[in-house]
Amino acid sequence: MAYYRRIGDVPPKRHTQHRDEAGRLYFEELMGEEGFSSDSSLLYHREIPSAVVDARAWEPPDQATVPNHPLKPRHLKLHELFPEETWAGTDVVTGRRLILGNAEVRLSYVVSAAASPLYRNATGDEIVYVESGAATVETVFGSLRADEGDYVVLPASTTHRWLPSGDRPLRAYVIEATGHVAPPKRYLSRFGQLLENAPYCERDLHGPGAPLQLEGTDVEVLVRHRGSRGPAGSRLTYARHPFDVVGWDGCLYPYTFSVHDFEPITGRVHQPPPAHQVFEGSGFVVCNFVPRMVDYHPLSIPAPYYHSNVDSDEIMFYCGGDYAARKGSGIGPGSVSVHPGGHAHGPQPGAYEGSIGAGSVQELAVMVDTFRPLELGEGGLACEDPGYAWSWAGRGPAR
Ligand SMILES: [Fe+2]
Repeated sequence: MAYYRRIGDVPPKRHTQHRDEAGRLYFEELMGEEGFSSDSSLLYHREIPSAVVDARAWEPPDQATVPNHPLKPRHLKLHELFPEETWAGTDVVTGRRLILGNAEVRLSYVVSAAASPLYRNATGDEIVYVESGAATVETVFGSLRADEGDYVVLPASTTHRWLPSGDRPLRAYVIEATGHVAPPKRYLSRFGQLLENAPYCERDLHGPGAPLQLEGTDVEVLVRHRGSRGPAGSRLTYARHPFDVVGWDGCLYPYTFSVHDFEPITGRVHQPPPAHQVFEGSGFVVCNFVPRMVDYHPLSIPAPYYHSNVDSDEIMFYCGGDYAARKGSGIGPGSVSVHPGGHAHGPQPGAYEGSIGAGSVQELAVMVDTFRPLELGEGGLACEDPGYAWSWAGRGPAR
């Protein structure tokens, strides 16, 4: 994130004395990526940010996976994972259930009405897509407001907590990277500004409000961090509240972007998924399909052509509207389709021809394409529709 912001009380010159009204020094913290060689911000704390008084092991949610073998397209029904009686006791951090994952990206889902503990994911950035409901996300930089359709982008090691609000639970689809996420490079000028032909711009990105300046002692933070055999968890207790920041500036901070602010790119003939891209990470991309006018060539076929994604697994989360290409398959809001590399996929029977003459589509979907195969997590295995693989043929195995 290369867009500079400055919030709260910051000294005119970096790395110089900065004091409160009583003359007490603030403690400057640089939060930076790639070892002082990439984006960073400077935060000014009232207390020493490294003062811990206890450290214990913490077991994060189950991250075990099994291969997609034998290879099949799959349909996962996420809305079946969290019955209503679980909402009040589930938080976004400890309650998330792993749907799919590999070493570079993990996709989880959670339905939550409970405040989360303070949390810091030190293994990578998180993009949390709000399917429905609302929340305040308190962070060391200040608060973000998260509403239906928002992507909440939380840089690695941002201490934060989720506070669902309103009369509906928060439904969140969590895309957790190993490493960092950013707008696609082709959307950016060589100095990092979003270009005129990008489908969104800086004005669509919403950063934190004023610093929270919270007080407190012996404050616990759950930390997901690098371990010898993959990610591990620790519970650190800080002497003073980590949200004691009085001001910060820089180019590294959490922000929100609404899917409804994505301006779709359309054409005379079918536009491929990269036209709908919103973020990229190491080993994966995120695209979104939003309501839009469709192809206007006189002989166009608006439904997608059948396609073999030779080098990727394609994961679609259907989060609103009406997805005509999947009609008859059982897929609806809250569904995830898994279309793996090694298998051609496309519209369900009838949808290809049926799309001819359509002027617009009302679909809303978030897609993650990975370049390494994804495996199924316990959440994905728990909500699979076993008949989906045979939905194009209309019948399953003759045995
Ligand atoms: Fe596809």
